[in-house]
Amino acid sequence: MEEKNFKNLGLIVATGQNREIGYQNDLIWRIREDLDYFRRVTMGSYIIMGRNTYESMPKNLSGRRYIVLSRDRNLVLDSSKVLSRSVEETLGFVSSRSEEKFFVVGGSAIYKEFLSYVSFMHITEINQKFPLADAYFPDYDENDFTTLDDSDFMIEGNIEYRHRLLLRK
Ligand SMILES: NC(=O)c1ccc[n+]([C@@H]2O[C@H](COP(=O)([O-])OP(=O)(O)OC[C@H]3O[C@@H](n4cnc5c(N)ncnc54)[C@H](OP(=O)(O)O)[C@@H]3O)[C@@H](O)[C@H]2O)c1
Repeated sequence: MEEKNFKNLGLIVATGQNREIGYQNDLIWRIREDLDYFRRVTMGSYIIMGRNTYESMPKNLSGRRYIVLSRDRNLVLDSSKVLSRSVEETLGFVSSRSEEKFFVVGGSAIYKEFLSYVSFMHITEINQKFPLADAYFPDYDENDFTTLDDSDFMIEGNIEYRHRLLLRK
């Protein structure tokens, strides 16, 4: 597929200082405010995820429509969810619904496959390293993006973090 980005396609992720995003198919941290932020940002939109992230997440986040990527012929989803077999198929769906908003919500494999197609990124930057991690956000060129918004640093528990919104140039 041609390397173009889609105006109605973004991603949302929380990462540590080394781009860590998970461990043993779960998040490494619990930040309640960040889960609320995820809810606010994705409300009313489609959320695009890989099979592993789907297994690890609540199956019925209200107000969000699921697109789950899997090659597994035995996977059955309830009829409210879209099962997608490839990046191309998903992007075809995204481009056919330009009035809708789509968020790539992980995990590692899916971020990597979709990064070049997104036009904006909501990144929660956690000011800490997590040596235990086994899943990472892909490397990307910050110069491809402008910062639209940086929140102040916040603290929950002993975790310092901030929300950033980056827009592709
Ligand atoms: N910090 C965050 O913001 C955040 C957000 C989301 C997830 N995570 C973390 O990320 C980790 C999971 O990442 P992951 O890389 O293991 O898994 P993943 O990206 O969630 O899912 C990978 C699976 O998606 C399917 N898939 C991938 N590419 C595909 C394609 N092109 N076509 C069809 N199906 C495709 C395959 O499923 P089948 O094997 O069924 O074919 C593959 O095994 C977990 O630790 C999770 O907690 C973190």
